[in-house]
Amino acid sequence: MRISSVLAKDQERILCLPAHGRGLGLPPRLRQLLKKRAGIWDLPEIPELGGPLEPNGAVAHSQERFASELGVKRCWFGVNGATGLLQAALMAMASPGQSVLLPRNVHRSLIQACALGDLTPILYDLPFMEDRGHVVQADAKWIEKILRSSLLKGLDIAAAVLVSPTYHGYSCDFTKLISQFHQRGWPVLVDESHGGHFVSEVDDRLPESAVFAGADLVVHSLHKSASALAQCAVIWLQGERVAPEVVQRSIGWLQTTSPSSLLLASCEAALDEWFTSQGRERILERIRNGFEISDRLSKLGVPLIKTDDPLKVVWHSGRDGINGFDADAWFLERGIVAELPEPGCLTFCLGLAPQKGLAGLLARHREKIMLAYKNSLQSLSPFDAPPTPLIMKPYISCRDAWRGPTRKSSLKDAAGEISAELICPYPPGVPVLIPGEKLDQSRIDWLMKQKTLWSDQIPCSINVVT
Ligand SMILES: Cc1ncc(COP(=O)(O)O)c(C=O)c1O
Repeated sequence: MRISSVLAKDQERILCLPAHGRGLGLPPRLRQLLKKRAGIWDLPEIPELGGPLEPNGAVAHSQERFASELGVKRCWFGVNGATGLLQAALMAMASPGQSVLLPRNVHRSLIQACALGDLTPILYDLPFMEDRGHVVQADAKWIEKILRSSLLKGLDIAAAVLVSPTYHGYSCDFTKLISQFHQRGWPVLVDESHGGHFVSEVDDRLPESAVFAGADLVVHSLHKSASALAQCAVIWLQGERVAPEVVQRSIGWLQTTSPSSLLLASCEAALDEWFTSQGRERILERIRNGFEISDRLSKLGVPLIKTDDPLKVVWHSGRDGINGFDADAWFLERGIVAELPEPGCLTFCLGLAPQKGLAGLLARHREKIMLAYKNSLQSLSPFDAPPTPLIMKPYISCRDAWRGPTRKSSLKDAAGEISAELICPYPPGVPVLIPGEKLDQSRIDWLMKQKTLWSDQIPCSINVVT
């Protein structure tokens, strides 16, 4: 099968990312551009256009305009997703040999940045919800416990990171958290990949964006939480703690020298939606519709996990006795593409495309699935929290573990070994093991149990440091 043939196929319902829902939620300006002669929009960095790192041209002008709209110092568009900009941000905030304080649910891109930039990731644990198997957000008390830990003493920590909202939509209350880190003199990077729409502030039920809560650097994945094409992202910089030149240089280390002009136009068109009255009206409509869909599903008896993001619908399928992977396969066979299957639930991303009649459709399918599985309904929870320490410093450097000599070890016999790789059950990209971490028996037992829940997503053997 050819890639183009796959792309040309239509599904009945797209409830996954990118958030534009296969074009239905693309901003009008980008649609118009795409209607022109195919390929007309593919230009190199000619002077009139420029690029994210160029001082002049339409891209620079657009970036300046959005930074000023948001009241921040600078912003840069990115064409390698939030991944590329998160990596650039972390490498701008810390120098080789320094440590960075990261939550345990950090996206793997930041662990990779640690390996690339020779930074030490200090991972702090997060609260865990056993009924669904999710890590959720830390509050100020939790962070205080982390900050008081003797394990942080003597470490040269250069910066702290928060991930909010999470893939499922759990957002943190930034009121105290950012200042707790600032009081230590650490700049704060917030991975707000899934919360771009919070910036619009179109509905007061939306959580506060990290940009307004004073984070130094905030990254948005514009294809996850705005209406841009895949790979589009933006990073915002404010305050005095991080110098713009350093961020600019860091982006230059990682960015392609040929950023796609179509993707840059898509970043611009998606951000225009946050700042124009028609765009804001469209976002508001989607958000209201998201709240309505969840309300209606709850009224129809569908057990939902409530999170803070109205554009995510998390069906707690485990409470119905159904594994999220089985449910996902059921929907896929019927042309309905969900975003995130997990053992205990199935997450649908509503995105920014109109979703007519969705609550009824999902509720009807849930009834049919339950009927089909009536003889094999299983109790799935409680899920076991990972036996990770409150604070984890890798046994050896992430860079050395990843790049040095390795050998294969069967996972079940790997107690006492140092991992040379990341293990990340798809999709949230959140590592359950990182390079440089030492495995003990309780971790192996937990991973072996995860293997039964996530089947092929946790390998039988892993690369360990020799
Ligand atoms: C929390 C979080 N941060 C960052 C990323 C990376 O985003 P992108 O796909 O735009 O590179 C993801 C992707 O799933 C994510 O879930």
